[in-house]
Amino acid sequence: MEIEEVVAAEQVVTPWEVSAPDGVIDYDKLVDRFGCQLIDAAIVDRIAHLTLCPPHRFLRRGIFFAHRDLNRILDLYEAGEKFYLYTGRGPSSESLHLGHLIPFMFTKYLQDAFKVPLVIQLTDDEKFLWKNLTIAECKRLARENAKDIIACGFDVERTFIFTDLNYVGGAFYENMLEVAKRVTYNNLRGILGITPEDHIGKVSFPPVQAAPSFPSSFPHLFPGNDQLRCLIPCAIDQDPYFRMTRDVAPKIGFQKPSLIESRFFPALQGESTKMSASDPNSAIYVTDSSKQIKAKVNKYAFSGGQASVELHRKLGANLDVDVPIKYLNFFLEDDDELDHIKKEYKEGRMLTGEVKQRLIAVLSELVARHQRARAQVTEEMVDAFMAVRPLPNMFG
Ligand code: TRP
Repeated sequence: MEIEEVVAAEQVVTPWEVSAPDGVIDYDKLVDRFGCQLIDAAIVDRIAHLTLCPPHRFLRRGIFFAHRDLNRILDLYEAGEKFYLYTGRGPSSESLHLGHLIPFMFTKYLQDAFKVPLVIQLTDDEKFLWKNLTIAECKRLARENAKDIIACGFDVERTFIFTDLNYVGGAFYENMLEVAKRVTYNNLRGILGITPEDHIGKVSFPPVQAAPSFPSSFPHLFPGNDQLRCLIPCAIDQDPYFRMTRDVAPKIGFQKPSLIESRFFPALQGESTKMSASDPNSAIYVTDSSKQIKAKVNKYAFSGGQASVELHRKLGANLDVDVPIKYLNFFLEDDDELDHIKKEYKEGRMLTGEVKQRLIAVLSELVARHQRARAQVTEEMVDAFMAVRPLPNMFG
């Protein structure tokens, strides 16, 4: 999920390219074009009611903002029928930035709230095909990234993590073939923006990401439960893969997976710039020290405040472009405090420096907590999450 700085006439959102004419994604337009639905307050209330858990701030604040067939899953859940969660990550870099953690933090909440099993796909094959990395390097990165994912707090009794290079085969491969046989090159071109000049690895990959949407790809988890529903939390750039998956599902006798989709996490420099792995100053990494976090936020976080204190007191901040406020919206848990900061800042009573100070405290705590959790993750734990095994209490 990288925001490319490309001057395009139309916004482009595919799993490999995210760009918009003025750099700002028009999410309403996107939802409209993709044909998904917006998540409204009624759905948020319904989830709170069904799970007896307060809705995650990502849900309360419209960060996970779009869905496909979410109500269907909730109807069945209400009637006593469970589902499983599926999410994933392409392991292309050593250390994750905060944006990478978002789907996993949210998935952890869903797993706890609904008490359902979860499969996590690490697409080391995808990154080999798309990036200039060796297979050995992709495998190593997958294992390292698995530690950061495990550090998000997943329950080993309900979670199966797999890497494609290890797990693909058997029933999983059968489902890949069923999918592949029903998607034409023209379908794929339309959905994913693949061109004739692309190597054929890119054409062959999409069924790999589709297959985990079908329970029979995991015979050790869901034997004889081929109609079990699947819910996929992801950033909205993954929607094209799952549009393809949903088209194919009924043709091969499976349920269409449901989706719950997030907005993108902005770069420190603002929404219209690229958050890139090659520019360490464009993002906060989970490996950053509090000193680095402080320096990056103070130096690089784009401010919507005015040029001088006098002007700021008079005009207040422009919250629409202010990165500290956007980041607090993602990570400050307390709704009342967030509202208070927004109001004070917008009306010029709070200065950018003060807002940044609060953000630095919030991020330092979050990152330190993650680092402590990750330090506890052993190789044995990674093996335990990745073991191909039944999960006897996964709905308990
Ligand atoms: N393609 C995703 C990426 O590059 C990884 C992925 C695989 C994924 N399966 C998924 C993401 C399911 C979300 C949901 O990061």
